[in-house]
Amino acid sequence: MERLDKILAHEGFGTRKDVKKIIRTGVVTINGEICQSANTHIDEKKDTISVDGKDIQLHSGIYLMMNKPQNVVSSSKDGLHETVFDLLEERYYNLFLSGKLHLVGRLDIDTEGLILLTDDGVFTHNMISPKKHISKTYYVELRDSVTKEDGEDGLALEYVNKFSAGLSVPQDGIEESFEALPAQLNWINNNSCYLTIYEGKYHQVKRMFAAVGNKVTFLKRTAIGHLELDKSLLPGDVREITSDELFLLEK
Ligand code: URA
Repeated sequence: MERLDKILAHEGFGTRKDVKKIIRTGVVTINGEICQSANTHIDEKKDTISVDGKDIQLHSGIYLMMNKPQNVVSSSKDGLHETVFDLLEERYYNLFLSGKLHLVGRLDIDTEGLILLTDDGVFTHNMISPKKHISKTYYVELRDSVTKEDGEDGLALEYVNKFSAGLSVPQDGIEESFEALPAQLNWINNNSCYLTIYEGKYHQVKRMFAAVGNKVTFLKRTAIGHLELDKSLLPGDVREITSDELFLLEK
């Protein structure tokens, strides 16, 4: 059993003082009944708390998926650009301010798509651990079209073969060269494809296509492991991932 004000503060509704004020206004219900007393004890396994008519899922961990827009940086501070945290609604933003919510990996400023945020450090560690080889799938648009004939000279086939064999990616400024793990490339048309990689080196997808003499002109992450970006999320939208989706990530 835990006090109502403590639970709501933990869930990101503000400080204990803020939360007490919210409770006094009568917008909080416990199992459908208005509750205006901050020291009410809650059974976190059985009771349903709702604030402003929205049920609060009590969990030890918060797991969010965002469709990151372009021109937004995936870091906690940037003097120039908006950060992914600036796009969060107040409740989640407060969790970031209190040092709980963090990003699981990064995307470049000009890359769109699926990015995860959580307050669960163990989850993050598992997701970004280079040993786990969690797949990431990207939708890629390229500057130069490739021929799609699957003949021996077809550039499309050449890319597929090179990527699946494990590509040597040259040094890029201060970034060291590396041997990419075998990756799967599926062409959509002559200049767009899906690429699935199993690691997350700096600018990896852009550098892989640069290594075969092409250039990425648009990049969007569409999946991490078995978790796909919810197609109904517009750039900048965020939602909690469901327990089924969490299960997909842990598979
Ligand atoms: N590869 C890149 O080049 N950029 C990203 O943002 C992600 C993968």
